[in-house]
Amino acid sequence: MRKLRSRSFSTCLIVCVLFTFTFLTSNVEAYDSLLQLPLSGSTRTRPRSKRVLFVGDFGAHGDGVNDDTEAFKDAWEVACSFSGRIRIVIPTDYTFLIYPIDIAGPCRSKVTIQISGTIVAPEDPDAWQGLSLRKWLYFDGVKHLTIEGGGTIDGMGQEWWARSCKTNSTNPCTHAPTAITFHSCKYLNVKNLMVLNSQQMHISFTKCLRVVVSHLQVIAPARSPNTDGIHISESKGVEVKDSIIRTGDDCISIVSNSSQIRIKDIICGPGHGISIGSLGKSNSWSQVHDVMVDRALLSNTDNGVRIKTWQGGSGFATEITFRNVLMENVSNPIIIDQYYCDSQLPCANQTLAVQVENISFVHIKGTSATEVAIKFACSDDYPCEGLYLEDIELVSSSGEMTESFCWEAYGSSSGLVYPPACLSCSESFIKQKVILDSVIASS
Ligand SMILES: *[C@@H]1O[C@H](CO)[C@@H](O)[C@H](O)[C@H]1NC(C)=O
Ligand SMILES: *[C@@H]1O[C@H](CO)[C@@H](O)[C@H](O)[C@H]1NC(C)=O
Ligand SMILES: *[C@@H]1O[C@H](CO)[C@@H](O)[C@H](O)[C@H]1NC(C)=O
Ligand SMILES: *[C@@H]1O[C@H](CO)[C@@H](O)[C@H](O)[C@H]1NC(C)=O
Ligand SMILES: *[C@@H]1O[C@H](CO)[C@@H](O)[C@H](O)[C@H]1NC(C)=O
Repeated sequence: MRKLRSRSFSTCLIVCVLFTFTFLTSNVEAYDSLLQLPLSGSTRTRPRSKRVLFVGDFGAHGDGVNDDTEAFKDAWEVACSFSGRIRIVIPTDYTFLIYPIDIAGPCRSKVTIQISGTIVAPEDPDAWQGLSLRKWLYFDGVKHLTIEGGGTIDGMGQEWWARSCKTNSTNPCTHAPTAITFHSCKYLNVKNLMVLNSQQMHISFTKCLRVVVSHLQVIAPARSPNTDGIHISESKGVEVKDSIIRTGDDCISIVSNSSQIRIKDIICGPGHGISIGSLGKSNSWSQVHDVMVDRALLSNTDNGVRIKTWQGGSGFATEITFRNVLMENVSNPIIIDQYYCDSQLPCANQTLAVQVENISFVHIKGTSATEVAIKFACSDDYPCEGLYLEDIELVSSSGEMTESFCWEAYGSSSGLVYPPACLSCSESFIKQKVILDSVIASS
């Protein structure tokens, strides 16, 4: 065993080094644009055609003190009713204070919002009095929108976190805003931006179609509560790539009725890793299928790649692949949990569950902060089926042994899998089921 461990560890080292190297070199170019913010003044020398709107021309102060919300609304109204392509410029070197704002479509035009400067939220949660506590920058029904520009969006979430019941259990539990919400969006391109310190989730896509997100940096402290990086819900055709996410909750979470999701070249951590779910909360029906997570580096995260479902829910999590993932000191690197429970009271045992089927983990290497590097805790009544492990090497970051945990987990593995897989063979499950079904049918 010692021999196996030392050999697999040295193989891992080589593979990890190679992987890290190719990952980083291939990403150097990708992140270049993050480092090169537009030159100061470059936007000002552009001729002020009707196709370029400067928020300053709508009365924005850009001093970070005066309220610039109306100026943004006005610029949006003009841009949205224009025909053709139009750009709204938020220039570099200025800070714009924006209160909760609804930015509504559909528009006649194809709008680009160029954020080269900084947008900040009010620091004081009381600014939301009488307004929805879930929203700050809220885009609704917008199509053909591009947001870019190398600037920063800062949710100033510190006071929200201090008041959270997760920070101090004597506080009442309330909602907190998602910094940027896209609701009912279509053909969206979000790139080259820094999104910081959201009150709660950073960026959320709900009921969206055809979205490409790239070259983002999403950053909040590890201890900030519920600050998911990118949240995808009820959406189809979403691609997230070449991004760095360091937050207090999931780097990326994919939930309720989402499909055709592609996640590629992500650096994640600290945070809770990349999650499908939670699904099936409060006995809901939900389906997530056709998800590919390819090339990710996760460091010091609470989970690696995860599927979590609540007891009592129903629906499916199927056709999901995680591949080419490098883990550095990750707790629970590979985990499927059909007993997920995040409520203050313990969750009652229930028979219904979201079916988890055809999930592949391929070429996943690195170090685990916990002994159980692979954990499949599946439902007795809806076992996990079609799980597949290939080329897995998860050693302990503290030099202990690692192991797998399986409960009602059916599937197969190929190539080297360390810790050794503990899956039950799918055939025997199917046979048992056939026998059981015929017993039921004949009785
Ligand atoms: C939690 O909040 C209560 C009431 O505001 C306060 O008295 C207490 O010191 C806080 N605890 C911590 C750990 O911050
Ligand atoms: C998912 O879609 C189904 C069918 O359209 C709907 O009944 C269900 O409420 C949706 N679930 C969630 C969590 O949005
Ligand atoms: C590894 O992760 C554990 C648990 O999160 C943490 O306590 C420990 O300090 C980490 N080790 C390193 C070397 O970062
Ligand atoms: C649920 O079932 C498990 C395993 O059978 C048992 O240990 C646990 O106490 C049960 N929980 C509740 C809330 O009934
Ligand atoms: C799982 O994969 C098997 C074999 O490819 C396929 O027959 C089955 O339909 C898949 N299940 C789902 C729910 O997609």
